[in-house]
Amino acid sequence: MTQLREVYFCEKCGNVVEIMNEGAPALVCCGVPMVKLEAKTQDASTEKHVPYVEEKDGGVLVKVGRNTAHPMMEKHYIKFIEVLTKEKVYRAELTPGMAPEAWFPIKKGDVTEAREWCNLHGLWKS
Ligand SMILES: [Fe+2]
Repeated sequence: MTQLREVYFCEKCGNVVEIMNEGAPALVCCGVPMVKLEAKTQDASTEKHVPYVEEKDGGVLVKVGRNTAHPMMEKHYIKFIEVLTKEKVYRAELTPGMAPEAWFPIKKGDVTEAREWCNLHGLWKS
């Protein structure tokens, strides 16, 4: 059974879906069940994925890669960054060539989770 804000991935076509109304027994794409993505929180490689949240200009800046920016190339990039609060989901949609970061007009104390999806390495959160 799907839950609000879960993210699902189609291993055949790459479709990514976020649940906005929970309760469906399953999601199917390309004729096969979609895979629920479990956000990773530990980055062992030199390439960093865990979102880093800092206060900036009255809101929060979420960076993918605290000190070293994640690549933003055609074949490997951060597709979206989201900030979740108790009642809202803020999402920035990124494209290759952009900086792997996004600013959101909310207080850091209201952030319950920050997450991002890398087209090669999946879902990550902090
Ligand atoms: Fe990556």
